[in-house]
Amino acid sequence: MDDEFILDTPRVRQFIGEVRAAMAAHPAREALELLLPAFTELLADPSWLPDSYMQPVAEGGMGGGIATWLLYRAGDGGLSLFSLVVPPGSATPVHDHLAWGLVGLYSGEQDERVYRRLGDHGQIADGHAPLEQIEQNHLRPGDYYLLMPPEGDVHSVATVSKGPSVSIHMLGNDTGCTVRHAYDPDEGTARAFTSGWSNRECREREDT
Ligand SMILES: [Fe+2]
Repeated sequence: MDDEFILDTPRVRQFIGEVRAAMAAHPAREALELLLPAFTELLADPSWLPDSYMQPVAEGGMGGGIATWLLYRAGDGGLSLFSLVVPPGSATPVHDHLAWGLVGLYSGEQDERVYRRLGDHGQIADGHAPLEQIEQNHLRPGDYYLLMPPEGDVHSVATVSKGPSVSIHMLGNDTGCTVRHAYDPDEGTARAFTSGWSNRECREREDT
């Protein structure tokens, strides 16, 4: 399958080129740290992301009017770049990502709760997945975090600004089409879920 540049601009192509070069030459954590300057530049630049990728949707896989706008995905399913739009007053389910990545706030403000899985090596068994909240963060534009599962992989975000929050994600999977988990921290349970993409279908893979 071919790479897809849904937002096909020199800026996005340049950033993806830098990501690919860093990932090819370094272990994931080191590559993510090397990519921080380019990523924070994207977060600070109001000119590259069209308005249409900053809008909520009526219905999406995460509920609550939350949109997942795919900007780029790799043909091999190993990389995606997308914006997540969470309307004011909405929150994502507690969820995991199952991939390394960089996530940063582009506009609006979010409260984030980060969890760690407890129990048998953090494994999910028969839907049983007890969690412990380990962090609560208030995120403003320009703030970012690294995902390096299991570190920081389970969280929820809620928009606390008057307008929607828009965060930019660069993750090492086809996140919208990956079967992930949504958690109920009070019950200590997890269920499989797929967020999907607001602007693309998931593709059948021949290689998996
Ligand atoms: Fe997330």
